[in-house]
Amino acid sequence: MEKRLFGKTGKYVTEIGLGTWQLGTVWGKPFNREEAMRILAAADEAGINFIDTADVYNGGESEKAIGDYMAEHPDRFYVTTKCGRQLKPHTAEMYTPEAVAGFIQESLKRLKRERLDMILLHCPPTPVFARDDIFAELDRQKKAGNIADYGVSIEKTSEGLQALDYDISAMEVIFNMFRLKPLDELFPAAAAKNVGIIARVPLASGILTGKFTKETTFGEKDHRSFNREGASFDKGETFSGVPYDLGIDCAEELKKIFGTDKLAPIAIRWILMHPEVSVVIPGASRAEQLQNNICAAELAPLSKAQMEAVQILYDTRLRQIIHSQW
Ligand SMILES: NC(=O)c1ccc[n+]([C@@H]2O[C@H](COP(=O)([O-])OP(=O)(O)OC[C@H]3O[C@@H](n4cnc5c(N)ncnc54)[C@H](OP(=O)(O)O)[C@@H]3O)[C@@H](O)[C@H]2O)c1
Repeated sequence: MEKRLFGKTGKYVTEIGLGTWQLGTVWGKPFNREEAMRILAAADEAGINFIDTADVYNGGESEKAIGDYMAEHPDRFYVTTKCGRQLKPHTAEMYTPEAVAGFIQESLKRLKRERLDMILLHCPPTPVFARDDIFAELDRQKKAGNIADYGVSIEKTSEGLQALDYDISAMEVIFNMFRLKPLDELFPAAAAKNVGIIARVPLASGILTGKFTKETTFGEKDHRSFNREGASFDKGETFSGVPYDLGIDCAEELKKIFGTDKLAPIAIRWILMHPEVSVVIPGASRAEQLQNNICAAELAPLSKAQMEAVQILYDTRLRQIIHSQW
């Protein structure tokens, strides 16, 4: 698989990585370690060398599974993890240098590493993006050798622009055919500072696979049921913030534009058409999904007409409700 430079880390990462929020789980079901290990092995066999995780995914089990896999297969993956979401309440006041230092130690243990490749602040409250003490702690952790690099995961592009005042190496942001705002200001500003971009929620939580209909139902513990209006976390994380029925209508339009019902590889290919993106991280609840998603790496570049058709769909159906929110 093609590799891209990951910002100022100087590392080359595969343009498709693996998201592990749902590693080995169907939302709301217990963690399935065997399926998690199967997905990690499938990623490894497919040549993927980038994994995105977080301390809170599956209550720490995602990090532990990655740590166990890497204990057996060292140096296979560059691992980006995240911290902050353990704080309760999740407020700016709860962010302290000591808390961040503690989270790094915990992730080191779960991932069984002496140094984290990359740690991101996990969508903290907006004021944290201007907190000198937190970024100074990340600098200290880097000098101490506990982390190689650090960065931020963001909800709003304005937060990303603020974080560029600090020495971040990477930024994780929602970017997909339903979320075009990062192209305006954020990507050019990040590129100017050589900050790597991780594109998350590439399939708009599955809508951009083309597999859902307006009749599809989701389990009550699935965020696609309970977080549509942001009851638990930012609603932009669920279906990329697009109202469900509108998302289905747009996916149907995309099927016509691309002449296929199988949209997942196309949705990923669309993201890869943007050179500012270092790596795109589709999540997979089963190994077969991962195998389907990496087909995107083999697809020919999308045509100018196809790219324009996606832009028109966004401008006519989504821009008005999405663009100003994130
Ligand atoms: N705040 C943050 O920093 C943050 C927030 C969200 C996500 N993330 C990261 O970004 C990654 C990706 O985001 P995401 O998982 O929320 O959204 P996503 O990648 O847009 O969608 C993933 C979901 O789509 C379905 N899917 C994936 N591939 C498929 C395929 N080939 N065919 C059919 N269905 C397929 C699966 O759902 P079902 O099988 O259940 O239908 C899967 O759980 C996460 O794993 C996580 O690492 C970070």
